[in-house]
Amino acid sequence: MKIKVMTVFGTRPEGIKMAPIIKVMENTPEIESIICVTAQHREMLDQVLNLFKIEPHYDLNIFKPGQTLTEITIRALQGLEAVIEKERPDILLVQGDTTTVFSGALAAFYQKIKIGHVEAGLRSGNLYSPYPEEANRKLTGILTDFHFAPTETNKNNLLKEGYPEEKIFITGNTVIDALKYAVKKNFIFYDSLLDSIDYSKERVILLTSHRRENIGRPMENIFSAVGDIAKKYANVRVVFPIHLNPRVREIAHKVFKDNKRVHLIEPLDYEPFTNLMAKSHIVVTDSGGLQEEAPSLGKPVLVVREETERPEGIEAGTAKLVGTNYENIYNSLDLLLSNREEYDKMANAVNPYGDGKASERIVNIILEHGK
Ligand code: UD1
Ligand code: UDP
Repeated sequence: MKIKVMTVFGTRPEGIKMAPIIKVMENTPEIESIICVTAQHREMLDQVLNLFKIEPHYDLNIFKPGQTLTEITIRALQGLEAVIEKERPDILLVQGDTTTVFSGALAAFYQKIKIGHVEAGLRSGNLYSPYPEEANRKLTGILTDFHFAPTETNKNNLLKEGYPEEKIFITGNTVIDALKYAVKKNFIFYDSLLDSIDYSKERVILLTSHRRENIGRPMENIFSAVGDIAKKYANVRVVFPIHLNPRVREIAHKVFKDNKRVHLIEPLDYEPFTNLMAKSHIVVTDSGGLQEEAPSLGKPVLVVREETERPEGIEAGTAKLVGTNYENIYNSLDLLLSNREEYDKMANAVNPYGDGKASERIVNIILEHGK
């Protein structure tokens, strides 16, 4: 009898980090892989599905512009109920900390299906930052049978909360598996802007920001600081593939209006995006995934948040938590752009988040314990 594993995901980062697991499962004859997307994101999820050639068995298509947290939760829960009832998987896998993750775990729990949580045990210590993701992780943890913790730190967080050690497995983060698949030498973008930049002479700051708790004043501060630093240095440009959230786009267009050194572009597919990161000089972000990818590529990353649940990059010296205060961000960028020694101190390729084999480990654990 095969082990039936249902993966449930809904947003861009979950798709990127679930894809390598799905690929390994496709090549594992003892596993029957069922894929269900909530489509909490639509276009940004479809970009990932296309790249990794994933064809979901179920697409709940819950996305609605301007969706609230409650609406996402209700629509995902309702849609999942019928799918889980029909398929009755042996294990349901969720990845990360989105509302799809919590809804997926809850829907599985209601039907007494075992739950595997990929990227378990990350904690910032503040329920409101990141919001609502810290709560989603904790709520999912309570329902989980297999905690796939990327790092030792993540495992220790779970032990501190009283989870039994035999349910926790250190696997590395599957984002590194995906990154190894995507980043290539001499990558050509087939994009007039990105191919026109001479990355050996011009220094690109890659910017992304979308966190709910940053929307408003904090985001204005982040964008103003990055925009002003780009005006100070002749060979610095900013590339910002803007998240599709209209609230983010509105602030970006307002702050960067008339700033010719800042290129506001549409969300990139994962391959061009990670290859752009590999060619960039500095990353400024509030994203979770970028905090993991940038250290692996040896790119200094300024984390524009007050707390992070990913301290490993900071301990390794590649990431710096700079908050959302204008001066802090401006001065940190100024230092990195003007002082080679400071830059080199941060630009070390380190891999605190994994070795590219996390997916294989997760699938092996499922094979061993899944029935
Ligand atoms: C969600 C996750 C967040 C994750 C992020 C990754 C929750 C609560 N938040 O945040 O943890 O870091 O995804 O990007 O689960 N939109 C589109 N098309 C898309 C995607 C988004 O138009 O393909 C716009 C819509 O207007 C939507 C808005 O973005 O209402 C916000 O999307 P939503 O999924 O609610 O939250 P995110 O901020 O994307
Ligand atoms: N990403 C992408 N295209 C973009 C911006 C980001 O493919 O234009 C990828 C990025 O490499 C990372 C993931 O999307 O793997 C991060 O997603 P996001 O920042 O939306 O979510 P978070 O990681 O903060 O949950």
